[in-house]
Amino acid sequence: MTELLTPTAHPVLPPLQIGRHTISSPVVLAPMAGITNRAFRRLCRQYGAQGAPADGGAAPSGATSLYVSEMITSRALVERTPVTMQLIEHDPDEAPRSIQLYSVDPVTAGRAVHILASENRCDHIDLNFGCPVPKVTRKGGGGALPWKSELFRSIVSTAVRAAAPYDIPVTVKMRKGIDDRHLTFLEAGRIAEGEGAAAVALHGRTVAQSYSGQADWSAIRDLKQAVTSIPVLGNGDIWSAEDAVRMVHETGCDGVVVGRGCLGRPWLFTDLAAAFAGSDLRVRPTLGEVCETLRRHAAYLTEFHGSEEKGCRDIRKHISWYLKGFRVGSHVRSSLATVVSLSSLDDLVATLDLDQDWPADADGPRGRAGSERRVVLPEGWLDSRELDGVGADAIAAAELSVSGG
Ligand SMILES: Cc1cc2nc3c(=O)[nH]c(=O)nc-3n(C[C@H](O)[C@H](O)[C@H](O)COP(=O)(O)O)c2cc1C
Repeated sequence: MTELLTPTAHPVLPPLQIGRHTISSPVVLAPMAGITNRAFRRLCRQYGAQGAPADGGAAPSGATSLYVSEMITSRALVERTPVTMQLIEHDPDEAPRSIQLYSVDPVTAGRAVHILASENRCDHIDLNFGCPVPKVTRKGGGGALPWKSELFRSIVSTAVRAAAPYDIPVTVKMRKGIDDRHLTFLEAGRIAEGEGAAAVALHGRTVAQSYSGQADWSAIRDLKQAVTSIPVLGNGDIWSAEDAVRMVHETGCDGVVVGRGCLGRPWLFTDLAAAFAGSDLRVRPTLGEVCETLRRHAAYLTEFHGSEEKGCRDIRKHISWYLKGFRVGSHVRSSLATVVSLSSLDDLVATLDLDQDWPADADGPRGRAGSERRVVLPEGWLDSRELDGVGADAIAAAELSVSGG
């Protein structure tokens, strides 16, 4: 599908420095709940390594980029729920081992970080302050939280201090704000920098926008100008390696965070690593090659879940992303989307015209979109930047049963 690059090309950016970690290709796999588990990260890592220069520019493990876990709630980690303990696992060759934590309360955040750090369970922690899901923002969590600037400061500083003795960098991922009239990203970026965060990442949308419209890259440029001593990472609407390089040129950001663009397309990490190394190598797989990757993904999910049934159930959500743009009959499509075993997956794939070339309309947006919506917040949340009137107990409830960012 691809060939190794020669080291002659000029890199677009220097390596990304996240605390003690030098990431040779300044690309981050965005945390995505239900997606960026160990199985999907393994696929993305394999493809990222294929786009790395052949001069050993990649880390010894072959890790060129940073691949973040799906969001883990601090409360569930502190309670050591079995699902959470499984979600924080990494492959033996993952380096750095990265975990995203969601927290609304400094004490729980500190305890969760302490568990991860003192038990040597990861090498990097990202904090999620961007979740737009109503059941989270209704309690003041996720993207609503930076509005309460002292609470935000306290969570970041507690996490940074709990991780510091173990030399584990803590980064912050956020949105622009609650809506256009309640923007928080510049202040939150400066607070995170001041409290010792190792980098800040900005998704250029407000919570109200959810995934609608277009990400505002000018906000990333503004954040880069405001936060000068740590890397600023840009996120939102990178669908191709060309988009990623354009974001760097338009905003001056130090690296990019890529989410939906790699759904059903983990080889985007080859393209991204190649583009940042200055090469025009791009992967354009045939349907046969796509199905080989899909099959590998299903096998990795089976291993991850410890069950073929669960692995096959999990792969179903990826089918339409993998097949986007290819000529596949609706009957096979729907059978694949309800696949029950690896052998039935193989049988269905065998019926396809696997020689089809990569379709042009498979490029471009994929995954969630949706429309702008009213943000559901706790009563009186916007009246003040302090936590007055809204007890910390109330927002602590936001840690329970959340998913998605
Ligand atoms: C299915 C899905 C799950 C997500 N889960 C998380 C999450 O757990 N934590 C987080 O910070 N962001 C989460 N996000 C947001 C992404 O990390 C990213 O910020 C967003 O998709 C914008 O980037 P993109 O345009 O490259 O997709 C999720 C997005 C999607 C589509």
